Amino acid sequence: MDKSKVANITSVLQEQRVFPPTKELSRQAHIKSLAEYRALYSESIRSPERFWARQAKTELVWFKPWSKVLQWKLPIAKWFVGGKLNVSHNCLDRHLDTPIANKAALIWEGEPAADGKPGEERVFTYRQLHREVCRFANVLKKHGLQKGDRAIIYLPMVPEAAIAMLACARIGAVHSVVFGGFSAQSVADRIADSQARMVITADGGFRRGAVVPLKRNVDEALTIKDANGHLLAKSIERVIVLRRAQNEIQMETGRDFWWHEEIGKVDAASAPEKMDSEAPLFILYTSGSTGKPKGILHTTAGYLLGVKLTMKYVFDLKETDVFWCTADVGWVTGHSYVVYGPLANGGTSLMYEGAPNWPEPDRFWHIVSKYRVNVLYTAPTAIRAFMKWGVDWPKRHDLSSLRLLGTVGEPINPEAWIWYHEIIGGKRCPIVDTWWQTETGAIMITPLPGAIPTKPGSATLPFFGVLPEVVDEAGVVVPRNSGGKLAIRKPWPSMLRGIWGDPQRYKEIYWSEIKGSYFTGDGARQDKDGYFWIVGRIDDVLNVAGHRIGTAEVESALVSNQKVAEAAVVGRPDDLKGQALVAFVTLKTGVPAEASLREELRNHVSKEIGPVAKPDDIRFAEALPKTRSGKIMRRLLKQIAAGGEIKGDTTTLEDFSVLARLSAVEE
Ligand code: PRX
Repeated sequence: MDKSKVANITSVLQEQRVFPPTKELSRQAHIKSLAEYRALYSESIRSPERFWARQAKTELVWFKPWSKVLQWKLPIAKWFVGGKLNVSHNCLDRHLDTPIANKAALIWEGEPAADGKPGEERVFTYRQLHREVCRFANVLKKHGLQKGDRAIIYLPMVPEAAIAMLACARIGAVHSVVFGGFSAQSVADRIADSQARMVITADGGFRRGAVVPLKRNVDEALTIKDANGHLLAKSIERVIVLRRAQNEIQMETGRDFWWHEEIGKVDAASAPEKMDSEAPLFILYTSGSTGKPKGILHTTAGYLLGVKLTMKYVFDLKETDVFWCTADVGWVTGHSYVVYGPLANGGTSLMYEGAPNWPEPDRFWHIVSKYRVNVLYTAPTAIRAFMKWGVDWPKRHDLSSLRLLGTVGEPINPEAWIWYHEIIGGKRCPIVDTWWQTETGAIMITPLPGAIPTKPGSATLPFFGVLPEVVDEAGVVVPRNSGGKLAIRKPWPSMLRGIWGDPQRYKEIYWSEIKGSYFTGDGARQDKDGYFWIVGRIDDVLNVAGHRIGTAEVESALVSNQKVAEAAVVGRPDDLKGQALVAFVTLKTGVPAEASLREELRNHVSKEIGPVAKPDDIRFAEALPKTRSGKIMRRLLKQIAAGGEIKGDTTTLEDFSVLARLSAVEE
């Protein structure tokens, strides 16, 4: 890693405001004071095995107890070794003999139709959800999916996405949810990597009144070949198709089956598989600093305990809460806090199919008031968009049911924090700014609302059992208020267990950068009170509107276009999205740099990866600035992209004239 990056992590933020929890709130909270948090936290660090054993015993339902709490041989962790349990049993069956059985588990609101017709509403009680999951589990089995097999879930935000995940967990199959905004190519790559046997998809999904052709993308994915002419997705034997958008699709006899027809052919009796604590639960692909997405592997007991506990303490969940996490199930936030966390706690999880500004920018506030939402968990990028759309939209709705607000995905600027607090939270709702990652499975650094005073822009203090530190190049803790790399010093139950099929890469990326510790890829600073301020990524990964995008992935998509010779992608600060993607592109000899080519290349990236990765700006350049050893000098490109002056050392630059010409490039 470029050393200058670490040296450059200094946060200019000097936020002084502190918001302590009110007495009233603390009294009703699970953790009632800073002292109580500190006592439990210090036990969790001093005696992690004792702490986690107690939590696992009280929070989870086991078929067979474990024999060893933790077996840790860096970088391989095994938690609750020898234990047996089932995630769907913990999320559903355990509630059936309690009054929770008839409580709403999932409330789903569909996107309003293009003609203004209100969206559909569906509510599943725990008993109903259990029945649907059991039936779908039987469909999966009937079609040959077995314990340990992988299934791709490529669905819109509909209840069936949660049902499919839970059904896989029930039979011990490993799901890999692919976000509906990813392209056919991305689906094919993920199938190839996971060797999945089945795809669960829909005819189409709705997005801002348009239909996203999911099944057509799957059909295309199943025909894509690699460089050697081999089909990428040849492991797929079955495609189960949910009818959602009623768009016209092709069904291939013997391979493709309708969800609604198959569900009618099975009964609702399904015993949950008794799974090992360490049995794989899901793979979720995420971006890294190389061109290939990594299949992050999570397993059964540790993950479930992590999401169950954070859900309960961070959101201070009450029995009567309606909890709304606005993330798509295609991201880890949707896995942990739309599906597994709320259901494991017997909570009510609200799921919304559509976008925040369709048909109007008050969609979220309409839903909050309609369902009397108590806890809202969303992303800073959405909050900045709400600020831009103006206070009139939320003001039209009764938001008095809200008692707690959360954010995740990127640093929140204090201005957006204050707006969220005042306009949405009516100054009464605490905000939990939660730091975590796909790899960590569950929330890691966060306020506990009844115990930890908040500071706008800081994720505050670590959750139980999490030992983060800010360190320098040598892995040594830096003094308070200086920047460094964020490391996690101890294993924790919901940590990733590896990169699917690539143990070497797992070790290199996460466990080699800082000796003996997990490297997060983030830069951070700790203030005098020990609060963590996350600065953002320090590797070549960008955070665009809360989505993780590897610059190398976008670069390799660009150079796969015949007209492109070379590409370098960097981030530039963006008011709304946090960061925007700027691509510097050199074209092959003879290809004219026409304006229309920009759109062509943006669409090309969309086709290769998905609309989330479309560059915001494409700048054509005759050459890219390189060092004498041929490395692209991204630092300079970043400065140019941000419209700033070129500062710092340029003495290693191979050809000085390139810089002058780049700065002069027209937008
Ligand atoms: O850079 C951090 C940022 O998002 C990254 C993780 O992205 P992903 O795996 O897609 O998961 C997002 C949802 C958990 C982190 O490495 N990030 C996440 N939460 C915060 C954050 N940055 C600052 N503050 C946060 N609260």
